[in-house]
Amino acid sequence: MSINTISVVGAGQMGGGIAQSAALAGCRVLLHDTDDARVSAAVERIGLSLMSGSAKGRYTPEAAATALARIVPCGDLSAAIGADLVIEAATENMAVKKRIFAALDAICAEGTILASNTSSLSVTALASATGRPEQVVGMHFMNPVPVMKLVELVRGLRTSDETFNEAAALAKRMGKTPLEVRDYPGFASNRILMPMINEAVYAVYEGVASAETVDGIMKLGMNHPMGPLALADLIGLDTCLAIMEILHEGFGDSKYRPCPLLRNYVQAGWLGRKSGRGFYEYA
Ligand code: CAA
Repeated sequence: MSINTISVVGAGQMGGGIAQSAALAGCRVLLHDTDDARVSAAVERIGLSLMSGSAKGRYTPEAAATALARIVPCGDLSAAIGADLVIEAATENMAVKKRIFAALDAICAEGTILASNTSSLSVTALASATGRPEQVVGMHFMNPVPVMKLVELVRGLRTSDETFNEAAALAKRMGKTPLEVRDYPGFASNRILMPMINEAVYAVYEGVASAETVDGIMKLGMNHPMGPLALADLIGLDTCLAIMEILHEGFGDSKYRPCPLLRNYVQAGWLGRKSGRGFYEYA
């Protein structure tokens, strides 16, 4: 099967980045969101990012323009009928994602692969909302998508080898390295990353050190490119909290309890970069 057209469902930070990387890899991209304004904003962001990439000599201005032209804004989910593979990158909520998967299953042609960019929800459960569980797979991209090399490729309980291999081939074509994991809460990436971020929040909560100091320790002492709290702001504190809750519920182990300070920030609407304030303030 050759994948020429992909549909990206959800035009947020992750969906936009996936659309950009797929378009640069030569795919036609049908970019859909329930909110038209989010699609327009994503296309504008992608345009700026492509211009900056070409200015840095990563690709020619012509390649950037061609990639941008490959992205088709779609107001209607039914546009996914033209896709060889769909990547769902909607909000991290099982009920919402299941609704989207059931709708895609009804719309898409028989052979279309349905992938989810979920960062921690069960791919097997999403697959159960469709009549094609063998053709459902997790393609977990990292933020910022155009820069990060990993796609954590999640094999659901019923994912077929053929589906898995197609998704791996697409990830490689997008310049990424797919690494295979089994379908358990948080997979491998967030099972390891989120408890570290949560522990960094505990260190601030318990007065061990300030956010700046905690981040400085991890950057200077462990050579992390950014500190865990700055990274949490980049990911979104609401997303971090949601993933901790999935780990806590999924394993029933108190070591995954979310820090009350993280919960407070989310309740205050301090969600990180996207809201202008998290552990740091953003202009
Ligand atoms: N889109 C495109 N390019 C971007 C970008 C974006 N959003 N953000 C940064 N870049 C590019 C810059 O243009 C720059 O390119 P050049 O080297 O060609 O100039 C390069 O990345 C480095 O950027 P900066 O110089 O601005 O800043 P930096 O060196 O501090 O790098 C960073 C920024 C790439 C984000 C780096 O700090 C980093 O790797 N941080 C860790 C990110 C990480 O851990 N991501 C995973 C999050 S977890 C996740 O996503 C999974 C989940 O489920 C929650």
